[in-house]
Amino acid sequence: MDKKRIVVAVSGASGAPLAAACIRQLKKLPDYEIHLVVSKGGEETILHELDMRLEEFKGLAHVCYDNKNISASIASGTYETEGMIVVPCSMKTIAGICSGYSDNLLLRAADVTIKERRKLILVARETPLSPIHLRNMEYLSRLQNVVILPPVISYYSKPKSLEDINFHIAGKILDAAGIKVEGFRRWE
Ligand SMILES: Cc1cc2nc3c(=O)[nH]c(=O)nc-3n(C[C@H](O)[C@H](O)[C@H](O)COP(=O)(O)O)c2cc1C
Repeated sequence: MDKKRIVVAVSGASGAPLAAACIRQLKKLPDYEIHLVVSKGGEETILHELDMRLEEFKGLAHVCYDNKNISASIASGTYETEGMIVVPCSMKTIAGICSGYSDNLLLRAADVTIKERRKLILVARETPLSPIHLRNMEYLSRLQNVVILPPVISYYSKPKSLEDINFHIAGKILDAAGIKVEGFRRWE
């Protein structure tokens, strides 16, 4: 059986543990194949925010691409994927996607995801937000296949730890991508 390919991209916003939480949940799903790309900024935040080496993090995915390699498979629309999740998504990457300025693999893969009308989940993280950030996100949110999903805590789930928070947000992100996570608590 062919696996469903999902592109996971990590850019340089705070929230690298959310990327790890998403990848760990996806790894439990045998139907899915994780294709990972990490920006230079993403490498920085992984080093600052996760207790693991960069290579260890990259090893969590099934396939990992060099962000400079714009001739990689995910740079082409002919390479079939289920969609793409940018987690976390910096304001610089939002601006790049918004303007179609695809000068690295992450941006090109997002551009391809939009043009092929596949689902693109942007876990946009910055605070406070400037009019420029809001304008870019407002524009992207109008595209039917794009979801702007800021990593916001759900207090109603009564999280006991950072791990609980990350698990719940990862569940929300994957849910938006149409991927069901076991143990994700919904409001009843
Ligand atoms: C520890 C750390 C945290 C950062 N957090 C954010 C953030 O939450 N949001 C954001 O837009 N940029 C953040 N930045 C700045 C981006 O990393 C920077 O703009 C970078 O150029 C983004 O490039 P990229 O989108 O290609 O990864 C952070 C940088 C560092 C070093």
